[in-house]
Amino acid sequence: AKNIVSLSITGILAGLALLPLQRVDARSLSAIEKDHKIIIATEGQFSPFNYFQAGKLTGFEIDIANAVAQKMGLTVEWKSVGFDALIAGLQQDRWDLVIASHGITESRAKVVTFTTPHYCTGGVIVSKDPAIRSVANLAGKNVVVQVGTSYLENLKKVPNIKDIKTFPKDTDAQAAVTMGRADAWVSDKFLAKAAIAANPSSGLKIGDFVFVEKVGALVSKGNIPLADAYNKAFNQILADGTYAAISNKYFKEDIRCK
Ligand code: ARG
Repeated sequence: AKNIVSLSITGILAGLALLPLQRVDARSLSAIEKDHKIIIATEGQFSPFNYFQAGKLTGFEIDIANAVAQKMGLTVEWKSVGFDALIAGLQQDRWDLVIASHGITESRAKVVTFTTPHYCTGGVIVSKDPAIRSVANLAGKNVVVQVGTSYLENLKKVPNIKDIKTFPKDTDAQAAVTMGRADAWVSDKFLAKAAIAANPSSGLKIGDFVFVEKVGALVSKGNIPLADAYNKAFNQILADGTYAAISNKYFKEDIRCK
């Protein structure tokens, strides 16, 4: 009798666990291969990594993912959505992979599986004020940052910042500091370098790193066959010169993790 009771309790619990989320399983590697097409999502507002030029999605990460997919024998169907919606959409099986400069963090690794990092970088302080360069200089200052980013996560640990204002898009945080509505902006090192080079009269200067990070693509949590196939193709483009050519095109340097 005891066994029957515990069995039925187990059964009820298992049933309950399935009910609320209605989780759809991620597409398997074999389903993707059968389709000859992988669905990849990005943001499209984080130049030069992912952005729109004359209405066309482009950038370092677009080229990298297209090259990886080609090695996998797949074409890419691209989607672009707000940065905040990328991980949720992956969990809902709306796309197979995300590439949008996500730093490999502990909190994200709980809900997604990261690929091999496609570049190594860090969050830097950007300001017009030459006195704002170090993390300590942020004390008493108004800092702007994109929401949902590792920049925000790390800024929250910095003591004595006066105010952290978040924006849905990194470009709006950049605009706020350019227009003098904030003292400092924290964003990606390579992005900030490119933004300043494109607009030298902005008066923005790059200060110290707040933290460093490895950036990878994401697949649905536990979709190891897809991550493995991506990583294998990614290693091929690292080895055959494709990666270096794409990196040089956007950054005039090789930004792979060393
Ligand atoms: N590297 C940062 C992070 O991990 C920023 C990523 C922002 N990406 C974007 N497409 N806006 O959160």
